[in-house]
Amino acid sequence: MRFGGPWTEEKLDILEAYLDAYTTALKNQPFKLIYVDAFAGAGQIERRDDKGDTIGFLRGSTERAIRIQDKPFDELIFIEKDAKRCAELAKLRHRYHDRNITVERGDANRVLRDLRRDWRTCRGVLFLDPFSIEVEWSTIKRVASLNSLDIWILFPVSAVMRMLPALRQPDEVSAEWANRLTSVFGDESWRDLYQDDPQQTLFGEHRSMRERGVDGFLNIYKKNLDEVFGDRFLRKSRRLVTATRSPLFEFMFCVGNPRGIGPATSIAKHILERM
Ligand SMILES: C[S@@+](CC[C@H](N)C(=O)[O-])C[C@H]1O[C@@H](n2cnc3c(N)ncnc32)[C@H](O)[C@@H]1O
Repeated sequence: MRFGGPWTEEKLDILEAYLDAYTTALKNQPFKLIYVDAFAGAGQIERRDDKGDTIGFLRGSTERAIRIQDKPFDELIFIEKDAKRCAELAKLRHRYHDRNITVERGDANRVLRDLRRDWRTCRGVLFLDPFSIEVEWSTIKRVASLNSLDIWILFPVSAVMRMLPALRQPDEVSAEWANRLTSVFGDESWRDLYQDDPQQTLFGEHRSMRERGVDGFLNIYKKNLDEVFGDRFLRKSRRLVTATRSPLFEFMFCVGNPRGIGPATSIAKHILERM
């Protein structure tokens, strides 16, 4: 894996701080603690200088979760589509052979749909860290229904923005992209972004255009999360941006079990505000 920029470290530091506090908070509870990394990567992230030479490595999300100390996770599940990265994850599992680690090669949505545990006795955290728009809404709904896994999700605002050009009609978005967007949003609510443009074209037609920033479609996605999770969805989130401050991802949090809303949201909120 290659280092994307300071935002890579920012999301991992937030995740790690949460995992640390979360496991400590549940330390004396009778639950089996599970960590699921659905877009697991290769274990390490390579840093390169301007010339392309390797200058070091950063621990990825998987190894950070393995190394949580105070109350380590009882089980760790790493899902990854890419064969080479799975081979790296297998080496990581070998290095920590005394830990209960599973590496599943495949599509995260499929593996999460088929994941079976006794959810009444398990609690855990799911990290959804895709490159782009790979997380399907049906996956979010399925995980929400388990009432067991807190979710940290990176919503790819820049990828969605590229798919929703500002000066087009919603019907001009290609059928393939429209289907992808519908599978990400869970419905066709993304089409509501387009409003009639008050200016007419040269031919006297009214075109529609969408709101230019990322907030419009992000608010639609947040509203959909709100409908599924209710109070389990934390309204506060973190925008991850490039060095030139272009938005890349929105980092958001949802609570697994309704009884954990208080402690989980206050830990997550505290971390998002302080880090
Ligand atoms: C942003 S990286 C994850 C980085 C990782 N969290 C870390 O800290 O090292 C996204 C990963 O998701 C994998 N991926 C992409 N699409 C996938 C899918 N549909 N199912 C599972 N993994 C997928 C990619 O191969 C890539 O390794």
